[in-house]
Amino acid sequence: MERAALVLHFAVKALREIGRKLGKTDWNFEEDPCSGRDNWIKAQDDEDGVGGGGAKAGIESNVTCDCSFNDNTTCHVIAIALKAQNLTGTVPPEFSRLHYLKSLDLSRNCLTGTIPAEWASMRLEEFSLMGNRLSGPFPKALTRITSLRNLTIEGNRFSGPIPPEIGNLIKLQKLILSSNAFTGELPVELSKLTKLNDMRISDNLFSGKIPEFIGNWTSIEKLQMEGCSLEGPIPSSISALKSLSDLRISDLKGRVSSFPPLSDMHSMKTLILRKCLIGGQIPAYIGAMKKLKNLDLSFNNLTGEIPSSFDHLVRVDFMYLTGNELIGTIPSWLLGRNKNVDLSYNNFTWESSSPTDCPRGSVNLVESYASSADKLNKVPPCLKRNFPCAASSKQYKSSLYINCGGKETNVAGVTYQADNEQRGASMYYSGQSQSWAFSSTGNFLDNDIDSDDYVESNTSVLSSISVHDSELYTTARASPLSLTYYGLCLFNGNYTVRLHFAEIKFSNDSSFNSLGKRIFDVYIQEKLVLKDFNIENEAGGTGKAIVKTFTAVVSSKTLKIHFYWAGRGTTGIPVRGVYGPLISAISVDPDFKLPSLDGNRSYVVNAVAGSAIAAAVLLILIFGIMWRKGWLGSKLSPDKELKSLDLQTGVFTLRQIKAATENFDVGNKIGEGGFGAVYKGQLSDGTVIAVKQLSSKSKQGNREFVNEIGLISGLQHPNLVKLYGCCIEGNQLSLIYEYMENNCLSRALFGELGTLSD
Ligand SMILES: *[C@@H]1O[C@H](CO)[C@@H](O)[C@H](O)[C@H]1NC(C)=O
Ligand SMILES: *[C@@H]1O[C@H](CO)[C@@H](O)[C@H](O)[C@H]1NC(C)=O
Ligand SMILES: *[C@@H]1O[C@H](CO)[C@@H](O)[C@H](O)[C@H]1NC(C)=O
Repeated sequence: MERAALVLHFAVKALREIGRKLGKTDWNFEEDPCSGRDNWIKAQDDEDGVGGGGAKAGIESNVTCDCSFNDNTTCHVIAIALKAQNLTGTVPPEFSRLHYLKSLDLSRNCLTGTIPAEWASMRLEEFSLMGNRLSGPFPKALTRITSLRNLTIEGNRFSGPIPPEIGNLIKLQKLILSSNAFTGELPVELSKLTKLNDMRISDNLFSGKIPEFIGNWTSIEKLQMEGCSLEGPIPSSISALKSLSDLRISDLKGRVSSFPPLSDMHSMKTLILRKCLIGGQIPAYIGAMKKLKNLDLSFNNLTGEIPSSFDHLVRVDFMYLTGNELIGTIPSWLLGRNKNVDLSYNNFTWESSSPTDCPRGSVNLVESYASSADKLNKVPPCLKRNFPCAASSKQYKSSLYINCGGKETNVAGVTYQADNEQRGASMYYSGQSQSWAFSSTGNFLDNDIDSDDYVESNTSVLSSISVHDSELYTTARASPLSLTYYGLCLFNGNYTVRLHFAEIKFSNDSSFNSLGKRIFDVYIQEKLVLKDFNIENEAGGTGKAIVKTFTAVVSSKTLKIHFYWAGRGTTGIPVRGVYGPLISAISVDPDFKLPSLDGNRSYVVNAVAGSAIAAAVLLILIFGIMWRKGWLGSKLSPDKELKSLDLQTGVFTLRQIKAATENFDVGNKIGEGGFGAVYKGQLSDGTVIAVKQLSSKSKQGNREFVNEIGLISGLQHPNLVKLYGCCIEGNQLSLIYEYMENNCLSRALFGELGTLSD
């Protein structure tokens, strides 16, 4: 044995006891615990816990000794790491017999109970209990270990208030209390912890306001207070925390307040102030934060323009200004940069330089333009509010089935559409047949991998899910912040919305993997329907399906299902970066009978659109009759006559057409055909149409008008626009078509038809 020094007998005895109580069976006491041999040191990559600030759930079993005592004759155990060992039982008091133990890491195990009173005599400097199942009030014994520099009890089940005695731990540099069930106000004694450089209290149930005394933590670099139930505003004393490089605050209660003073924080890398009820303008100095990589100011009440200083933010990889009331034009440099930028849900102004297509990939502009922009022709539907149903959708739908994060699959005769887009940081994705879309915002933080997984596959065995529909649940779409699914071009009416969930990331076994807690909120049509939803709790375990059913009213063709992470739940189990909404499938069924021509205009338009040929044939008949009767050309008969022909369906009033085209405004003119001008318009229900106005002067023109209908009915080309109906009033004759983007319309209206009718 090369080592002269030996670990003292009483320490070996303590280790034996500890090993026995924790079920640590692979310690070989035939070997000297300080020898480093035979399982006394067994480690993998570093990660969380007392040492590293990294990310992966490293497995580690490591006993470290210092053998320099008594002239190198005596060894003492100074550090023990038992990480991700799936240890069970309670925390052994015998640790306190290792008087030289400075560092103890028990993270990611399944320990229960509390910290034994004997620990009060320990001289620990670093202690991590992250990801276990300890419960009860904040352990008093810990508040006696005044030598502590790092204390991490994140991801346990502690409850009740933080005791004032926490103020004894004046050496604390790192205090992580996140993901417990602590309540009450933050005790003023926390203000004594002026050496803190890393403080995280997210995901708790505190009350009261964010205290003014956070300004005393002048050494702080990392401060995280997400989803911890505190009230705003963020106190102005925060301005003293000049070393901050990672500030995360979210989901504050209270009233709207102005932007907190952060102008001196030149080290800022991650700035998250999400849903903090911040109003007013974004300060220009944010643009001077040269090290900024993540900026999330989403879901506040921010107004004004994006500061021009943002041009300097060249290092920012992720910028989320989603869900504010920002105005002005979107700077083109922002769109040009190959970074993830999410500007969805704002009130920007449309300009000729603005995008004329729904952006794909790294920029999300969904519903980002003010409603006044909606009338402008060039605004792509996805950028407008409420997705007015563009006529390129073939016809309105009365149902929708999506296999979120999965491939197309058939369950009980119903086909769930594929949804396997892998990206999602700032993403608008238009689904199959353009009958649905999603808007996804956010990146998974601290996961230490280059690409985030927005599509999750099951890691645990799916139980209690019939083989039948398991395909819906083996994959799911995940979101670190915000995810909205849109059902598009639906008939107005009531629907039954079913949200299919299954927890497939956490296990059902006795490993630490089972300790993860996923919590998120769901809104349908902007109404909160699930608050602090926990799939596992609702389903009665992981790998089990739970279907939540809701009634939704669709009144403007669009159904919105919004998933939001309000900072709740664990974020480090089984590994860093596992949190946020997870949705397996969505099904939407009508509560009404399928469309009939019962006078509801939306049905009517659809019926006509859906069977354009039939309608056209009818129209020919009518026009034929009208023409023969001499109504066409001279003075056209009032539509009373038309009605008597039982064709109310395809008939639009001149008033409707005038409103849709803004009184045939030149700005809406999209071309001039052989028979008259063609205008783009929008009906009051959002349907985008093309109106072909027939010059009513010549009889010849009218004959061509009728010819045209005949031609349309004869042409069965897939690219050909659909005829919605006609308008005959006064001496005005118009045909109303489905509006198609790009060249299809012009080809159809001015090309094929033009040549054919020659
Ligand atoms: C064991 O722990 C000691 C003290 O924390 C550390 O210095 C050493 O790197 C660890 N060894 C391994 C293999 O992780
Ligand atoms: C906290 O800061 C305030 C204001 O600067 C100061 O008056 C107070 O003494 C500080 N408290 C501690 C415990 O340092
Ligand atoms: C922004 O747009 C929304 C929705 O159209 C509207 O309710 C809000 O008043 C607008 N805010 C501003 C400042 O224009």
